[in-house]
Amino acid sequence: MPYATPTTESALSKPITVNSLRKFKREGQKFVCVALYDAPMSAMAQKMGIEVLLVGDSLGMTVLGYDSTIPVTMEQMIYHVEAVKRGNSKSLIMGDMPFMTYATPEQAMQNATRIMRAGAHMVKLEGGAWVAETVRMLSDRGIPVCAHLGLTPQSVNKFGGFRVQGRNEDQAATILNDAKLLDEAGADLLVLECVPTGLAEAITGAVAMPTIGIGAGQGTDAQVLVINDILGLTEKPPKFSKNFLVETASIPGALKKYADDTRSGVFPGTEHTFG
Ligand code: KIV
Repeated sequence: MPYATPTTESALSKPITVNSLRKFKREGQKFVCVALYDAPMSAMAQKMGIEVLLVGDSLGMTVLGYDSTIPVTMEQMIYHVEAVKRGNSKSLIMGDMPFMTYATPEQAMQNATRIMRAGAHMVKLEGGAWVAETVRMLSDRGIPVCAHLGLTPQSVNKFGGFRVQGRNEDQAATILNDAKLLDEAGADLLVLECVPTGLAEAITGAVAMPTIGIGAGQGTDAQVLVINDILGLTEKPPKFSKNFLVETASIPGALKKYADDTRSGVFPGTEHTFG
């Protein structure tokens, strides 16, 4: 194989599981997640010690050229989860559930099963209280779930654009309450996207599951960035992202720098956050 296979040398000494993530949180050890979509990049991430990979439905925008994540289908997700799985044997792989594939708990169960069979170790879905029953149902049946609150891109039309969420007291209280409900329902991880730093810190302290921030400040248990942003491929990069390629001049170097800076707390800086 021209690209690295799952047997490639790895900075991860053993496979990352949900137990590893809980241990990281307990011990205050920050971990790193990258949203990526193909086998060679997945193999490179394993080599660079990236603990968690997200096959995000952001692929609709970053790979397929749509202007939102809404057109993404199950078939597209499965194709990319399979590719990422083929490149990696150690990182924990999350697969996104696309728009309207988990509108009911039964539909969620069928579609989550397909994502798991494609090679994911966990599914991710967006939403607050309304998905709590679904999270419980999947979790009780052995499917780990990553929840996603704040700027949930599948609701972009409801938000009227890609906007920071939780800036007023009512919104912040709802997001905090949703996080607690999802934690109680059995979610194993929580992505917090584009929320004020203080809110992300309060949520991280209030829930047992680890939190992964993107545009949520430094107070979360982990960070996630999209590979296109790390490598400077995004024409108008979001405020919370950083091009690590300019400083390092190589893809492995950029991944390593992002991971090192996240673990040491250098990234995100205040210029990447929302007050
Ligand atoms: O789809 C995705 O890549 C995501 C991350 C930006 C968190 O949801």
